[in-house]
Amino acid sequence: MPTVPVNGVELNVIDRGAGQPILFVHGFGLDHRMWLPQLEALEDSHRVIAPDLRGFGGSGVAPGKVTMQQFAEDLHGLLSALEVDEPVCYCGLSMGGYICWPFLRQNSSAVSSLVLCDTRAIPDTPKAAEQRLLLADAVLKFGSQAAAGVFIPQLFPDGQSGQAVEDVRTMITDADPEGLAAALRGMAERPDSTDLLSTIDVPTLVICGTDDRITPLSEVRAMSEGISHSQFVEIPDAGHIPTVETPEAVNALLQQFLCATV
Ligand code: MLT
Repeated sequence: MPTVPVNGVELNVIDRGAGQPILFVHGFGLDHRMWLPQLEALEDSHRVIAPDLRGFGGSGVAPGKVTMQQFAEDLHGLLSALEVDEPVCYCGLSMGGYICWPFLRQNSSAVSSLVLCDTRAIPDTPKAAEQRLLLADAVLKFGSQAAAGVFIPQLFPDGQSGQAVEDVRTMITDADPEGLAAALRGMAERPDSTDLLSTIDVPTLVICGTDDRITPLSEVRAMSEGISHSQFVEIPDAGHIPTVETPEAVNALLQQFLCATV
């Protein structure tokens, strides 16, 4: 996979196909591989762009703290480096959605439509933020395995096994501990973005797994109701990462949504 220098780091990125560009932004601990079923389904009809954010997958690492704002600046820099000169469909899952808010604040005209998966606009509670900082310390001490140990039971609460669980575990344990810790610190201090919801005026698809324990259905539905042009869809038999748990359902929804927004 080629890497592209952006804001002082090398970003690993998939950039395939032609046509309307879709920017896929992965969740915490994951990387572009969480979108592989969607890339495969859409690359014949769209330009699919799926980076590894700094600190994840094969991208360079910036230790310390990486804010959602910094990730968003990286994405704008990446689109510019790839000479993407038309607005994109921004498709983000969880932390990928947290990054969408500063991305929109920086330049909302870069976005023609939005797909928000299992994410939220509200910040962490003080307790959740404190737990993230503790986990950041643990990851630096014990390695990426510590993050997998905390997240896998929340991502797959029914103790599921199988390929999806193993793929997600591999992505988290492949991530650099410094990268994980930096993103945890950044997520802990992300601001409230609910004021943005009413300003969004592009077609928006909001999806959420019915069994999501990290961003529960009711919370994601409430976020969707704050966006005037949004459609909310529940994904049965999925938790926090429907893109890998129920890829066919997600692909069908994306295809339908993208056809309607052309
Ligand atoms: C993610 O999937 O990006 C994380 O679960 C988000 C979070 O921990 O809030």
